[in-house]
This record gives sequence, C-alpha cells and structure tokens, in this order.
Amino acid sequence: MLIRRADAIKSSEITSLDLFLRRREFLRGAGWVAAGAVLAPTLACGAEGEARPLAPRAGADANPFRTDEKPTAFKDATRYNNFYEFGTDKSDPRRYAGSLRTRPWSVAITGEVGKPGTIDLDDLLRPHSAEERIYRLRCVEAWSMVIPWLGIPLGEIIKRFEPTSGARYVAFKTLLDPEQMPGQRSRVLDWPYLEGLRIDEAMHPLTILATGMYGQELPNQNGAPLRLVVPWKYGFKSIKSIVEIRLARTEPPTSWNLQAPREYGFFANVNPDVDHPRWSQKRERRIGELRKRPTILFNGYADQVAHLYQGIDLRKYF
Ligand code: MTE
Repeated sequence: MLIRRADAIKSSEITSLDLFLRRREFLRGAGWVAAGAVLAPTLACGAEGEARPLAPRAGADANPFRTDEKPTAFKDATRYNNFYEFGTDKSDPRRYAGSLRTRPWSVAITGEVGKPGTIDLDDLLRPHSAEERIYRLRCVEAWSMVIPWLGIPLGEIIKRFEPTSGARYVAFKTLLDPEQMPGQRSRVLDWPYLEGLRIDEAMHPLTILATGMYGQELPNQNGAPLRLVVPWKYGFKSIKSIVEIRLARTEPPTSWNLQAPREYGFFANVNPDVDHPRWSQKRERRIGELRKRPTILFNGYADQVAHLYQGIDLRKYF
C-alpha cells in the first residue's frame, strides 16, 4: 500500500479499506494514517543532500498531516527494527517476536483520570466515529522511514477516561513478560520499557496510537497490538506493545533517559541543531535511498508543533 494523494485514491480502494477495517474488530476506530518513522537512537547521522520540507499542499483537499513522500518498502519497515525485548540486533525482532501473544490484550488506564480501569483492546479502540484520513508524517535520526500507519489520535482515547486537572503528563508502559519477550532476561535496559509525553503533546492530533501499518495489523516486530507514534520526535518515543497508559502529575521516567540521561532527554524532539553527545544530528538517511539529507527541525512538523515549545530552551530540554 503506497501513500498517495487522497485525490489519487479510487473510491473502490477506499471501500476495500473500509471492509478491511470492519473485518478486524480491533481496527474499527482506526483512521488511515500515513506516518513516518522510527529511528535508532544509537546511530549517527550522515552526509550531504537536500531536505524536502513537509509543506502542506495547496488545494481544497489539503490535509495538514499528509505526505506525498514515497513510503519505505514494507520489507524494510518490518525487517529492520528496534525492539530490545527481542534482542538488540535490528534483525532480532522479526526473528523472535513471534513469541508475543497479542490476543487477548488489555490496557490499563490509570492515574489522574475520572474513570480509571483495565479494558480490553477492542473496547479501547472502539470509536466514537470511524474516520479515514491520510497523515503526512516523518521521523528522523540517523535513518528514517515513511510508513503508512493505521491509527487513532491518542487524544481521542484519553478524553474518554476524563483526565483530571492534575493530568500534566502521560506515561506509557510495555508488557513485562520475559517468557514472551526473551530479551527482558538481559539487563540491556531496565524493564519494562517506559515512555512519556507532556499532556499537550499527547493530546496533539499528530500523536497516534497505531494498530496497523500498510493496511494490515501491526506485525509483532513493529509493536503489536498497539504502539505510540509521535512523528516530530525521535523513534525511541514510539513505545511498542503498550499495556498501561497512566495520566500523571509529574514527569514520568523513560527507558532511554534512565539508561543514558546525557544522551536521551525526555522531549527527544527531532532537532538538527542539538547534537547527540556522540554524533551530529544534522543529517539522516532514508532507508532505501543512497543520498543523505539534512534533518529538519521537528521532523518537518514545525508548523504544527513548534508552538508547544515556545519559550523553552530546546538545548537544555532536549
Ligand atoms: N518499544 C519497546 N517496547 N522496546 C523497544 O526497544 N525501541 C524504540 C521504539 N519503541 C523500542 C520501543 C526505538 S529505539 C525505536 S527506533 C522504535 O521503537 C523502532 O520502531 P520500528 O521497529 O517499528 O521501526
């Protein structure tokens, strides 16, 4: 499934997508989301090239989240992964993530909410109204991908649980089960994998909970059955196989920040001007391309998200 302009998609294709969504109960609420990707926090950036900023296309059908960029090959997006619960090599998740059982699956919604509870994935995703849309999303670090996601804006889900006025952050947790996730027997990270967002970042319409990609359920190695996608941040914020979403008063701990606080900050916004201590962040390579290109502030989404960081020193809060 390629990302194309909405006006280039035939209605017959939309119908088949619709049927697909209805066939899979858990995807009932999913919007058709073209998203960008996921990056290795441990790789350096590359050389010369020209950036193509994600300027919204003009026209009546302009969707501010859409991209016309060529999607990464499905094969690359599902064979070159980071999912340390299944090993640290990029090929490990595809080889070993088959041991993860993604049904039944429940997610606990806890903390600063009026209606906490543990709910079944299908109920969590059941929509107020199904919608179809194409997002222009892209993430970068040393390498980048462009991925057509199926997902639901996280904010829509959070609202259903009635966050209290004390909800200033959102914390996410991955399943902890070394039997299903053999990489958790190694101490490469403190398990379970944790991530967090500020509440305004979590409620931003670009932020999605992804349940599928390329028109299919998420492959296990890509974070089935439910993963976060925050396109203006480095890929390590995209926590996979989520079992808990906790609304919090204070900034939650995050796995990579706990592991190496000088290298991985809480915000992790894509920023060519803030180097990783061990390498430059100025350039990136799109998987499947030879040329390298300059990295763009907020991954090309400055128009949509820069206001979230007004008055904040992005060098200090990286
Ligand atoms: N989530 C969990 N639970 N465990 C992980 O190791 N790796 C992160 C993120 N989410 C990771 C995770 C990192 S470092 C990246 S770059 C992306 O997932 C990779 O997503 P992808 O494999 O779908 O490309």
